[in-house]
Amino acid sequence: MIGNDRIHKILYGGDYNPEQWPEEIWQEDMRLFRLAHVDIVTLNVFSWASLQKDDDCWDFAQLDKIIGLAEENGLNICLATSTGAHPAWMARKYPEILRVNEQGIRRKFGSRHNSCPNSPIYRKFSAQLAGKLAARYKSCKNIVAWHVSNEYGGMCYCENCERAFRTWLKKKYGTLQELNRAWNTAFWSHTFYDWDEIVVPDLRSEEFYYGEGMLRTNFQGISLDYRRFMSDSMQECYRLEYDAIKRETPDIPITTNLMGTYSGLDYQRWAKDLDFISWDNYPAYDSQPWEPALRHDLMRGLKQGMPFALMEQTPSVSNWHPYCSLKRPGVMRLMSWQAAAHGADTIMFFQMRQSIGACEKLHGALIGHRGNEHTRVFAEMAALGAELEQIGGRTLGGRTPSKAAIVFDWDNWWATQLSAGPTILLDYLKETEAWYRYFWEKNIPVDLISTEDSLDDYQLIAAPMLYLCKSGFGEKLTRWTSDGGCFVGTYFSGYAQEHDLIVTGGYPGTLKDMLGIWVEETDAPVPDTPVSFTFRGKSYPAEILCDLIHPEGAVSLGSYKDEFYAGMPAVTRNSFGKGCSYYVATHSCPEFYREFLDCVCEEQHITPVADSPALVEVTLRSTGKAEIYFVLNHGNADSACRIPAAVRDLISGRSYAAGEEIPIASRNVKILQKNTK
Ligand code: GLA
Ligand code: ZN
Repeated sequence: MIGNDRIHKILYGGDYNPEQWPEEIWQEDMRLFRLAHVDIVTLNVFSWASLQKDDDCWDFAQLDKIIGLAEENGLNICLATSTGAHPAWMARKYPEILRVNEQGIRRKFGSRHNSCPNSPIYRKFSAQLAGKLAARYKSCKNIVAWHVSNEYGGMCYCENCERAFRTWLKKKYGTLQELNRAWNTAFWSHTFYDWDEIVVPDLRSEEFYYGEGMLRTNFQGISLDYRRFMSDSMQECYRLEYDAIKRETPDIPITTNLMGTYSGLDYQRWAKDLDFISWDNYPAYDSQPWEPALRHDLMRGLKQGMPFALMEQTPSVSNWHPYCSLKRPGVMRLMSWQAAAHGADTIMFFQMRQSIGACEKLHGALIGHRGNEHTRVFAEMAALGAELEQIGGRTLGGRTPSKAAIVFDWDNWWATQLSAGPTILLDYLKETEAWYRYFWEKNIPVDLISTEDSLDDYQLIAAPMLYLCKSGFGEKLTRWTSDGGCFVGTYFSGYAQEHDLIVTGGYPGTLKDMLGIWVEETDAPVPDTPVSFTFRGKSYPAEILCDLIHPEGAVSLGSYKDEFYAGMPAVTRNSFGKGCSYYVATHSCPEFYREFLDCVCEEQHITPVADSPALVEVTLRSTGKAEIYFVLNHGNADSACRIPAAVRDLISGRSYAAGEEIPIASRNVKILQKNTK
């Protein structure tokens, strides 16, 4: 993890851009950092143009000074490589580094995250810069982590990418015959006889706009592979920088800042190349507290529960949301502790000092345009900084033991996004959220896992909308269920394998026997056309899709009430080997998930960390030395909770007996350590 043995507390700080300011300001920044208890700065995120002025002309003088300043002031450094935005001279001299968009238009210089990931020139220059930085600063003891590029993402459809795509395909499929099979090119006369006949699936080829900014495709296999290829291409760029750095500083951990539920990159594949996970948390102005919780858990799951770094969040306002609402008093602290409650071992921000020009000048910062410490945001940040010092290292390294898991798979995400039918409402992330929310509301720890993770430690696994079920995964789930697990599947599952070719013989494909059902047809009710079903005597809405299922061993726990499929099962249970499985044939409302999962969790003896009122979240991290409860009141009203163990409040020092009522004010946080006997 970040900083290894040297770090004894939650690191606190964030992106710092002194290069945007005259040097007189820098000393004032240092004074303010001390006041706010800042102990880490992320430097050099966007400085390529000042570091490299031509092919062979380098200038590290300013960065030398900045790093010297951080060292003199005892600040830990997360050193970025600056390759998230290329210099203007490079774009002019080597236009091939500029991306081409889905319309086939080559970009001009401008903005950021604008380099073609398959440009040999970009790859050469970016890896070279990373290597030079590592060689130059390898003796700097304050560098605790490397931060490669910044928020990788986007797509490119240029000629370099087209050539590289063909090479990637050759490696993947070996022969054109295999590729033609995997893509089902007999459809619409697409058979390829030469690799060079394959083109990028942009808007001039297979893809088209479907809804605002959404791309759909005529050939799922091609477009799906293009997304995998883009993710791999950027990962290779990352890896080139990673290798260049590792050659110089083998002991300093390397990361890049991920974006939570960003669909463009398969973070589960990326995770293998990251020494630790870091991510940027910018929930929308109207998001619910379980939304960042899900993303923290997803990020924690990328490395099987290893603590992660919260690399960025805003101290108060983001400038790029439609409504840039302020974080209300206490909310920045609450969200910071929520990250720690879900596995973060650093709490960092964008940004330390607010810019005066360009698109982020209205973005929140520790030091605002007023330039001093006399602001609400500064005071709240300084108070949190002091609190983190008080807590020290007690939470570091803490794991979150979970008996329940939700499968989340990027291939499936892409496949459902690219699906032509059966409804425009298909939304993998929203479906996952509907299931996740239950666990969050109940304080039941849940991991978000990939199809490659071990299932052994779990008792309950839900795989919402597992439309694309990769080869072997259905069998793996089946074995695990037969050995005593409890599997929950939903509508639109098991249709296809990894190339998005349908598994014939009836849906849900390889999950069919274990679920004890088969799906004959799937109806897409039009919104406002009421379809409903019953479960345990209550009626619930059936939305998005309604599978028409036939039990083949499973028993019905509830049936549709409307339409010609009234009376057909909507919820089933199947005993299977030593375990069992459930199938929910439609999407429904939160009340249904509560009722249904209450029954399943009770049956499987899955219990909450603690019971608490609505909007009071309780999590548990276990460090090996200590068990720490995090209690977070996201509500507007004061509340209370009870912890099933005797605990001590690490902030106030107060002790509570097991089950004693612990008051928690609105937007307040308690960090409670379980007493050891
Ligand atoms: C992202 C970037 C930062 C900054 C922030 C603003 O997370 O990584 O450079 O642009 O957004 O919210
Ligand atoms: Zn390209």
